[in-house]
Amino acid sequence: MNDSSSSPLRPNGARPAAPHIIGIGGTTRIGSSSEAALRYTLALLAEMGASTELIAGPLIDLPMYDPADAHRSPGARRLVQAFKKADGVIIATPSYHGALSGVIKNALDYVEDLRSDSRPYLDGRGVGIVVTAHGAQALGTTLMGVRAIVHALRGWPTPFAATLNAQHKPFENGLPANAEVAEQLRTVADQVYRFARAQQMLREGDKLAPARAAAGS
Ligand SMILES: Cc1cc2nc3c(=O)[nH]c(=O)nc-3n(C[C@H](O)[C@H](O)[C@H](O)COP(=O)(O)O)c2cc1C
Repeated sequence: MNDSSSSPLRPNGARPAAPHIIGIGGTTRIGSSSEAALRYTLALLAEMGASTELIAGPLIDLPMYDPADAHRSPGARRLVQAFKKADGVIIATPSYHGALSGVIKNALDYVEDLRSDSRPYLDGRGVGIVVTAHGAQALGTTLMGVRAIVHALRGWPTPFAATLNAQHKPFENGLPANAEVAEQLRTVADQVYRFARAQQMLREGDKLAPARAAAGS
């Protein structure tokens, strides 16, 4: 019988594992709008077929990153492992004084612990960014700052990012208050998911290339 799911890259029709997408963000305050945005975006990714992991609230309340101290708190170790395992990342931050919050920046500094990893820093990961602020100016400056950080970490910021004006109350009972907010978050989720899938297929192709070359195909 012809297996229609087979391809030269997947001879047995096996599909790669679901991409693992982690979400980091919010504030130490439970129920912040940036945390609501993060939870909703991860729920969309789970619907698309990703496995997801939320790192928010107390989980981002970490000691200041110290490159000279090899000791890591349990929370910091968990965060670094989550980054290591991730095929894609969502970062959701409020704007504090025109930039990302210090809590989120500190958490991102822990990616330094992956500098010698086989996939160093955020190499090969698509990164979706969500910013909340009380005004358009801070939404723009914060987004540009987070994109610069993601580039420094060798990640791939998605072309679209969600910028949510907290003055317009973007969430009600933890869900998008209107279609525009929902659509922004769906676009971010979709771009992160597709990029993670594309990267998985490239890695799979790289693994099979020597066997295909040896078989002369
Ligand atoms: C310390 C601090 C600084 C802030 N600075 C700005 C700012 O520069 N521009 C702005 O539009 N909003 C600013 N805000 C408002 C937050 O961005 C806004 O409350 C937040 O996006 C709401 O999201 P949250 O519910 O996740 O906290 C600031 C809030 C705090 C607590």
